[in-house]
Amino acid sequence: MKVGVLGCGLMGSGIAQVAATAGYPTVVKEVAEEFLKKGMAGIEKSLGKFVEKGTLTTDQRNDTLDRLRGTLKFEDLADCDIVIEAITENLQVKRETYAALDKIVKPAAIFASNTSSLVITEMMTATKRVDRFIGMHFFNPVPLMKLVEVVSTITTSPEVMDQAMKFAASLGKVPIRASDRSGFIVNRLLVPYLLDAVRALEEGVGSVEDIDKGMKLGCGYPMGPFTLLDFVGLETTYYIANIMFEEFREKRFAPPPLLKRLVLAGYHGRKTGRGFYDYSDPANPKPMF
Ligand code: 3HC
Repeated sequence: MKVGVLGCGLMGSGIAQVAATAGYPTVVKEVAEEFLKKGMAGIEKSLGKFVEKGTLTTDQRNDTLDRLRGTLKFEDLADCDIVIEAITENLQVKRETYAALDKIVKPAAIFASNTSSLVITEMMTATKRVDRFIGMHFFNPVPLMKLVEVVSTITTSPEVMDQAMKFAASLGKVPIRASDRSGFIVNRLLVPYLLDAVRALEEGVGSVEDIDKGMKLGCGYPMGPFTLLDFVGLETTYYIANIMFEEFREKRFAPPPLLKRLVLAGYHGRKTGRGFYDYSDPANPKPMF
């Protein structure tokens, strides 16, 4: 079985890494060489950490890298059995990409989108394989997070769902089934929680640090909501929240004004060096509020 991955950003590179680690020949496609280089460097770094920890041998790391191939051409995905798309979260761009891909990739192949909040049905209709189109939503950081949401639409064939569940398990992940509602299971619960943390901060219920400590130590979460917001990216969360708000028209999905202000100011979290924390000293983030 051959795996194709579209996009070699944070999520795409992680997905390509776990597919190649699991033994699948994997081709990952990007739009420019520089993105491919950056993604591949991230994969090497992550595999290096597993080697350091002793969960991967040097030979296994080298074999994994041998199974991975980067490309800039759709044609190199033609004989893939499954193509997982993790490109920019823009419906129009995704639809155009799927329409192009549909003509090139063999008809028996499954198409899977890693979107976190866009409607799978809206992407699927850009192709002719509406029975072989699903969501496969991985979590950041992909090499560490166990979960994959496998999402069916009203036209997905049950056999394709079963194949996708088996495939996700073969990557060492734990798959769960979800239906095509914006945000699926995890973001439907996670996004209102993250937005509520921002509202609590706006209302002066507690500081960034205390709210984070509260949820970490009081509920056993690995990261408090502001650390997680900075980790996921404030602009990403803002974008997801807006899509979910549009889908459900419920206040709990509406992004609070402070989140919007931070996004507008370019405070996107860890990746820009500032969000709810300042990462000038990455080992010792300082709360902004
Ligand atoms: N590859 C390999 N190893 C990695 C890695 C990667 N990409 N990232 C981190 N590691 C390693 C670290 O080097 C560290 O190794 P060490 O034990 O030898 O030092 C180890 O993993 C643990 O990392 P840390 O010590 O930095 O931190 P934690 O123990 O807190 O674990 C975490 C990190 C797994 C990210 C944990 O904090 C966690 O589970 N956080 C919550 C993440 C989360 O909720 N993700 C979901 C986000 S929502 C999402 O993705 C959906 C989207 O639609 C928005």
